[in-house]
Amino acid sequence: MHVPFCATRCGYCDFNTYTAAELGGGASRESYSALAIEEIRFARRVLGEAAPPVSTVFFGGGTPTLLPPGELASILRAIECEFGLAAGAEVTTEANPDSVDRRTLGQLRAGGFTRMSFGMQSSVSHVLSVLDRSHTPGRAQQCVAWARAEGFTRVSLDLIYGTPGESTADWEQSVRSAIEAGPDHVSAYALIVEDGTRLAARIRRGELAPPDDDEMADRYVAADELFAAAGLGWYEVSNWAVGDASACRHNLLYWTDGNWWGIGPGAHSHVGGARWWNVRHPAAYAGRIAAGVSPGQAREVLTDAERRTERIMLTTRLKSGCAVGELGPEGRRAASAAVAEGLAEGEALRAGRVVLTQRGRLLADAVIRDLID
Ligand SMILES: C[S@@+](CC[C@H](N)C(=O)[O-])C[C@H]1O[C@@H](n2cnc3c(N)ncnc32)[C@H](O)[C@@H]1O
Ligand code: SF4
Repeated sequence: MHVPFCATRCGYCDFNTYTAAELGGGASRESYSALAIEEIRFARRVLGEAAPPVSTVFFGGGTPTLLPPGELASILRAIECEFGLAAGAEVTTEANPDSVDRRTLGQLRAGGFTRMSFGMQSSVSHVLSVLDRSHTPGRAQQCVAWARAEGFTRVSLDLIYGTPGESTADWEQSVRSAIEAGPDHVSAYALIVEDGTRLAARIRRGELAPPDDDEMADRYVAADELFAAAGLGWYEVSNWAVGDASACRHNLLYWTDGNWWGIGPGAHSHVGGARWWNVRHPAAYAGRIAAGVSPGQAREVLTDAERRTERIMLTTRLKSGCAVGELGPEGRRAASAAVAEGLAEGEALRAGRVVLTQRGRLLADAVIRDLID
C-alpha cells in the first residue's frame, strides 16, 4: 500500500512521493484513502474468489503516517473485508519519527497494525542535517519506546550509512543508539546518490564529498559486527533481525517470487509471473480510479528464464541462500569459485545452497552476476 505523501522531501530521496507544494491539482491527501479502497475493490474483482486471504500488508511511502490513523485503519479494514486477513497476518506501516506520537501509535495498534518501521537514518545531528531529516537525534528511539508501550512487539529501524561528513565514530554511535532502542529488526542501507536529487546536485557542485566505496564497506562490516554482538543476525544483505520470527515476512515475499498486489500511484504488482505497475502521478492515478478504469500503466509477463534469473538474484541476497538446483553448469562452477575465494560458505554449498560470507555480501552483485548463466 503506497502512500505518496511527505511533509518535506529529504535531499537524497527519489521515491514517488510528493510534498503538499509538489502535489499540484487533481490529487489530495484528503481524498487518497477513498481512492486506495476503490483499487482494493478492483483488485478483488480481478483476482476473483480464488484469491487467498492476505498474509502480509505493508504500508510504505512516502510517509503513510501523514494520513490519520483512522484512515490507515479503514484501508486495512477494506483489505480485510475484500480478501480476509490470514490468522497472524503481519501488518506493517513505515513512519517518519516526526509523524507519530504515543497516541497515534496506540491508535495504529488498535486499528490492526502489528509492526512499525521507523526511518531513523542516524542519531548524529550533523548527519541528520545533511540528510535533511526533520527529526531530532533521539526521536526514533523514543518512537520505539512508545510503540513498545502501546503493544507493538515487532519494531524496526532504518539506518543509512555513508552520508557525506559521517565519520566511522558517527556511524558506530548511530548503530549503538539503534541497538539500545531495542528494535527486533533493523535495515541498514548504503546511501545511494540518486540522479536528480538535491544531494546529487550538492555533490556535483563540490559542496559535499561523494560516498567512498571502501569506506562504505568498512561501515557495513562494523554494523554487521555490532548487530551480531547484540543478537541481531543478518537475514538479507541489508536486513538484520533477532530471529526468524522477526524477519519481515512481507519483504521476504518480494525476495522469494511471492505474489502481491501494490495499491497506489506507481505501485508495482506481481502475480504468478505477470508484473504490472500503476501510473506514477497521484493526479493521474486519481483520474483513472474516478473513471472506473485500471490504474495500471503497463505490464509484462516474465519468461521462465527471467523468473529463474530473478530467483537467483534475490535468494542469493538471503541468509537462506540460493538453491544450487537453480544454477546451470557455469553458475555451479562460479559457486565453487566463490567458496574458494571466501565469498560463499563451503559447508552451505555442500548442503546444496549458495550462502554469502560477510565478504561475499560486500561483493554480492559481482558474485550474483557470475551465478547467472
Ligand atoms: C519510505 S522511507 C521510510 C519512511 C519515512 N518516509 C521516513 O523516511 O522516515 C524508506 C527508507 O528508504 C531509505 N532510503 C530512501 N532513499 C534512500 C537513498 N537514496 N539511499 C539509501 N537509503 C534510502 C531510508 O532509510 C528510508 O527510511
Ligand atoms: S526518505 Fe522518507 S520522509 Fe524522506 S522524502 Fe523519502 S519517503 Fe519522504
